[in-house]
Order: sequence, then C-alpha cells, then structure tokens
Amino acid sequence: MTYKVEMKNITKIFGSLVANDDVTLQVKKGEIHALLGENGAGKSTLMSVLFGLYQPEQGEIFIDGKQVLIQNPNDANRLGIGMVHQHFKLVDTFTVLDNIILGAEETKNGIIQYDHAIKKLENLISMYKLHVDINAYIKDITVGQQQRVEILKMLYRDADILIFDEPTAVLTPQEIHELMNIMRGFAKEGKTIVVITHKLNEIKAVADVCTVLRRGKKIGTVDVKSTSIEQLAEMMVGREVLFSIDKPEVTRGEPIFEVSHLNVSGHAKHSVKDVSFTVHRGEILGIAGIDGNGQTELIHALTGLKPVLSGHVTIQGQDITHSNIRKKYQKGMSHIPEDRQKHGVVMDFDLQSNLILQNYYQPRFQKHAFLRFDVINEHAEELINRFDIRSERGAKTIVRQMSGGNQQKAILGREISREHEVLIAVQPTRGLDVGAIEYIHAQLISERNNQKAVLLISLELDEIMNLSDRILVMYEGEIVGELDPKKTTANELGLYMSGAKRG
Ligand SMILES: Nc1ncnc2c1ncn2[C@@H]1O[C@H](COP(=O)(O)OP(=O)(O)O)[C@@H](O)[C@H]1O
Ligand SMILES: [Mg+2]
Repeated sequence: MTYKVEMKNITKIFGSLVANDDVTLQVKKGEIHALLGENGAGKSTLMSVLFGLYQPEQGEIFIDGKQVLIQNPNDANRLGIGMVHQHFKLVDTFTVLDNIILGAEETKNGIIQYDHAIKKLENLISMYKLHVDINAYIKDITVGQQQRVEILKMLYRDADILIFDEPTAVLTPQEIHELMNIMRGFAKEGKTIVVITHKLNEIKAVADVCTVLRRGKKIGTVDVKSTSIEQLAEMMVGREVLFSIDKPEVTRGEPIFEVSHLNVSGHAKHSVKDVSFTVHRGEILGIAGIDGNGQTELIHALTGLKPVLSGHVTIQGQDITHSNIRKKYQKGMSHIPEDRQKHGVVMDFDLQSNLILQNYYQPRFQKHAFLRFDVINEHAEELINRFDIRSERGAKTIVRQMSGGNQQKAILGREISREHEVLIAVQPTRGLDVGAIEYIHAQLISERNNQKAVLLISLELDEIMNLSDRILVMYEGEIVGELDPKKTTANELGLYMSGAKRG
C-alpha cells in the first residue's frame, strides 16, 4: 500500500542526545494522525525533519510512495507540506494579508498582485470557515485568530499535508472545538493531517490513528477508536497513570493574602485593572485565563518583579505592596515562578546554592561572613531526599544540567520548605512529564491541607479545574468571574476566558 507520508527509520541526534531513534511513521491520505508523547519525546523534532528544518542522521522520507529529499521548508512547501508551529511565526506589525503572502508573493513588474491573492484568500476563508479580517494587524487580533492566519498561510501555499504542533495549547475550549471541526473538514477534502499533542481527550475526539513516541523511540501506532485513554496514557508514559487527584475536604481558614484594587501598567490586555481577591488558609485559589491577559503582570507585581501603580497587597494584615522582594519573602510569601530558568534558579550555580538563594544570609548558613558549606550541603541533602530531586551529582550538580522536571522539584522544595504562609504557583507543571506533574499536584494539595494559602495561576484548564477550591477568570487585565469548580464546566469557563461572559 502507498502512504501519503512515510518516514522510515528516522534518527536525529543533537550532540549526545538521540531525539529520534529509528522512528518510522506511516500516514494515509485523508487521515488525521495524532503524534503523542510526553514533553521531550521527540515529536516536534520528527515533524521538523518532515518540514525540512532538520536533516536526519539516518532515514528516508517518501511522499506518495516516491522518495524525496527535504532540505529546507521551501522543499517541503513544493511537496505540499505545511506546518503550524507551536510558537507562531508571524510578523506583528504586518497585516493578516501581508503575513500570508509573505514569501509567496505574486508580482508583475515588481509590484505585488494583491487582487489575485485576495480572491484566493477569500475563497479559502469561506470554504473552511476560517474567518479573520485580512486587513487587521497581527498585533491586534486574538491568539485564536493568529492561528487561523497560520492555517491560511499553509492553505495559500496549496499544502495538502498539514502538520499542527500542539495547536490547542493557546485556545479556549470553544476555539478547540472549532479547530477540530476545521481539521475534520480538511480530512474530508482528502488532506492529510498530523497533529502533535499530549492531550489524550483531544486525540480521542479528533484523530483516526495515533503514533506514540517515548524518549525518542516509537512505541507503537494504534487505531484510536479501539484504544482507551488509559491504554494511550500507558503507552505514552510507560506505566499506569492515575487520573484522579486525591483531594480531601478541608475547612477553609482565615483570609491571609489580600489584594485590593490593584493596578499595574502594561499595554492594553497586558495591564492589570482594579484586581481584588482574597486567599484563605486551607484553599487553592485558581486564576484561569488565556495567555497574555495580564496574569504575568499581576504575578510580577505581587512578587516584586514589577512596580504597582495603585492598590494594596497584604499578608496577615501587613502591607507588602511596595516592599522589596526579600521583605516579601520574610513576611511569608513563597513563589514558584512562571519562567523557572529565568526567575527560579541560577542555572550555572550548583543545586545546593540554588536551594538557599533567599536565605543564604541567615546565621544558620553563615558564620563571620563565611558561608557554612557543610550546613548548606546538609540542607540540600535533606531537600533532595524529601522532594525526590534527581540529578547526576546530587547537591553539587550544576542546575543547567538537570532535567526541567527536577529543576522544578528543586524550586518547589525550596519554596515549600522555607517558612511561609502563602504559596504563589505559576504554571507549576508547564513542560513537565506526567510523573513530575502528579508529584507537583500532590504537593500543592498537601500545602492546602496544611492550612497554607495557595494561589495557582495556570493556562492548563484541567489543572485549574482539578486543583482549585475557587476559580477566578482573568480577561484583558480584569477579573471577570468567580466560579465554583464543582459547579462549572470547561465550556462555561471558556466563555469567561474569551470575554463572552462576565459575572
Ligand atoms: N535544536 C535542538 N538542539 C538540541 N537539542 C534539541 C533541539 N531540539 C530539541 N532538542 C531536544 O530533543 C529532545 C526532543 O525534543 P522535541 O522534539 O522538542 O520534543 P517534544 O516536541 O516531543 O516535546 C528534547 O530532549 C530536546 O531538549
Ligand atoms: Mg514539541
């Protein structure tokens, strides 16, 4: 049988890391084929090989049964292959139209022939219901609309093999639903689709076939209808996965962290406007929202990375609005930052130094202005054991050489073990594998059970729904709703997240 796309025995090596190890992928015409795997499994690498961004060390590629050489994305385009990257590659200050024709301009005497381009584009827009204003600037449209622009860009180049790299990461549930319909439409037209994801329910909803990668190796290809979510998870992770989170009833205590009428500067959607909320002991307050609606600015203002314009922040009744970062920590704040490598650790310090970044000056770790390395090392060993932080050389490992999951465990351990009342956890599981995610979730719950106040900011809706005791939704810098996770649905949350509903 002839496959539309056949990648045979692909091996791609980065330095000493085998990102793809003898991987074979066979995709039939008109099929929606999911590529499943944990973070770092090699999915994007494999698709980048197909799109001509990387040259494999080994392996062959066949399109419609004919062997091809894909040395760059232009070769891929000529073969009808298009790719929507995880991080869009659009020019912010160009219009939708200009972004789409960029690099594929049709010219006559050096002048771009817009008429023909517009006609073709309008046809595509109505045919696939990819509505977007072609004269708008990229910077003015939503992320969901930007994704449509990327899709139109592929179609404009007549691609019939469409690769989507984690396309739903930035979308609301409603937008995800629409995207799935659009994909089904493509498949019905005879186009061939490869969609990268680590979300199992999405695979169940849209894919026909699924290929699973784990640590660069292909584990198998299965028919989606006859495979359960549990089976897919086990193939992905290599062991059974618990889907339930053990979250006992806890009586919420006194209010301890209060934010009132906070304003923070930033461009339009990115500013924080009159935000007020209170976190109590014994609760996890979740803040949901689509990326870029002021969450980062809010957290930076609360934790001292950005100045506050007006409003107040208090811990246990004490004002910390304008306190410096050390003061905030001393008053009882702990923080698992969004960008762990930039704000959470010093990458070129060793693990034990990273575990005392905020309290190295305390007498416990210092004597006569000299660091007490024996105590620092002991402290590190204790956290390494307690939080299961794994690395090559234990306390002396340079943090840059640790995996993302273990860097995050180190930050979590440091922030939880330090004396604190409030834990601010921002995107605590982003990019981590299932094992680390389960562990971090359990730790956040146990903080709550221990009567700490936890503020959780996450773009992962499942995480917000499963962990939070209350949910606030942030949209364009404002809190637009408060919801009870036991009574709300992902769809309802989506309405608030997209600004369609307020209450
Ligand atoms: N350009 C690169 N240079 C070095 N290492 C890379 C590069 N791209 C990816 N890797 C590594 O290859 C592995 C697979 O990455 P990737 O294909 O992005 O995984 P996935 O998309 O499944 O999350 C990871 O360990 C990653 O760090
Ligand atoms: Mg990837």
